[in-house]
Amino acid sequence: MSINDNIEDKIKAHTRRRTFHTVGNIADTLSRQCYVVGGYVRDIFLDRPSTDIDFVTLGSGIELAEKVAESLGKDASLAVFRTYGTAQVKLYGLELEFVGARKESYRNDSRNPIVEDGTLDDDQKRRDFTINAMAISLNKDSYGQLLDPFDGIGDLDRRIIRTPLDPDITFSDDPLRMMRAIRFATQLDFEIYPETFKAIERNKNRIGIITKERICDELMKIMKSDIPSRGFILLDKCGLLELIFPELVALQGVETINGRGHKDNFLHTMQVLDNVAQSTKNVWLRWSALLHDIGKPITKRYDEKMGWTFYNHNYVGERMIPRIFKKMKFPLNEKMKYIQKLVGLHMRPIALIEEEVTDSAVRRLLFDAGDDIDDLMMLCEADITSKNQEKVKRLLHNFAIVRQKLIELEEKDRIRNFQPPVTGDEIISTFKLEPSPIVGKIKEAIKNAILDGIIPNEHDAAFKYMYETAERLGVKGA
Ligand code: CTP
Repeated sequence: MSINDNIEDKIKAHTRRRTFHTVGNIADTLSRQCYVVGGYVRDIFLDRPSTDIDFVTLGSGIELAEKVAESLGKDASLAVFRTYGTAQVKLYGLELEFVGARKESYRNDSRNPIVEDGTLDDDQKRRDFTINAMAISLNKDSYGQLLDPFDGIGDLDRRIIRTPLDPDITFSDDPLRMMRAIRFATQLDFEIYPETFKAIERNKNRIGIITKERICDELMKIMKSDIPSRGFILLDKCGLLELIFPELVALQGVETINGRGHKDNFLHTMQVLDNVAQSTKNVWLRWSALLHDIGKPITKRYDEKMGWTFYNHNYVGERMIPRIFKKMKFPLNEKMKYIQKLVGLHMRPIALIEEEVTDSAVRRLLFDAGDDIDDLMMLCEADITSKNQEKVKRLLHNFAIVRQKLIELEEKDRIRNFQPPVTGDEIISTFKLEPSPIVGKIKEAIKNAILDGIIPNEHDAAFKYMYETAERLGVKGA
């Protein structure tokens, strides 16, 4: 069905909102033109429900917002941003943003806050994309009328991201829009219009003036999309990825020595990312997929006997993550630790199935992964990207065995959130020891005995084993 088919009906359904009538009536009493504009209008036609609503008026957006907040009474809260000439009214979970129409770019940065008043047409021209430049009138005499000077509807129908003006102007007004173009193309599964894309290639270096936080917001939205690889492949194609995330670009390429090559780790990573994205909305697990092989370029070696190797790339990757996060101004919090843990552990399940799947190895994996074991298994299954279908089948089958064993052993031994059944205090008081390395040694021996299946994960058996160990280590009184 074409976007054009039921435009009127969709507008009618949305403009029934009481809030729109309220805003329109107040604008009328002020003799002001007022429109709902931007992403909300785009999303009406894409059937994407949205709670952020932008209003543009001719004159002061702040004054209109103040009057709207006043009329809504205690249900609404108002925040005014004088430097930007904008104001926000929050109401029943809706965020209403008010701005006056501008001649200059919609988003001028803080170094250049003075913007001249303009007409609606001026305002629409200075927006980022044709699909984001549509407006719907809220004034009584033209209520619900769509103003679409750049054929945003046509571009929605053709599934195209295109700037309203010469893209060099649109992108120089706000270079973040280059990332927004790629983000929208990824989120909506649209194409970027060739002239627009060429302008991104030409203007890519201007991304340097944009804060890392704004860039990361866009990356996050790409990561949350259904097929995130699309975004990274586009970022790479236009040259932005090299500037904002060189560690990913370093994964690219295939080197061949004596006729032996290795896989392109960038393309592999893209596939793993999409595989994971198909199974989970957990964006941090998706980040783990994006970064799982990030240590490969540094660890790559070639030798005649082994061919290409990437020894310890998982641990090297794990250690690279805090640096990457810091540089990208991502929060260095427990989410980062989770990603580090998964990247560090991602070779374990595969190593485990290449040999015999022993109970002891499965228990150790369960112990190290803890509650993240299911996420780790998901990452590892996604990591199987071989073209050899037989191999894929065999590996997946073996992973299924590991999963089954994980369930059985977890039921029996409760390793996932392992608490040693004998505590350090108990060891100290039993043998009248001072806190010392020997206490740690006994504790470690008990833990290993449980993980190796020598004793069950129970207090009495562990207590007995504690005595035997202390005796073996020559502890007095044992
Ligand atoms: N806009 C712009 N240039 C920017 C950011 C925003 O022209 N760099 C304009 C666009 O018209 C956009 C509107 O401001 O539609 C609202 O911006 P924003 O809330 O950031 O984005 P949305 O388009 O609503 O999309 P999303 O909520 O998915 O970010």
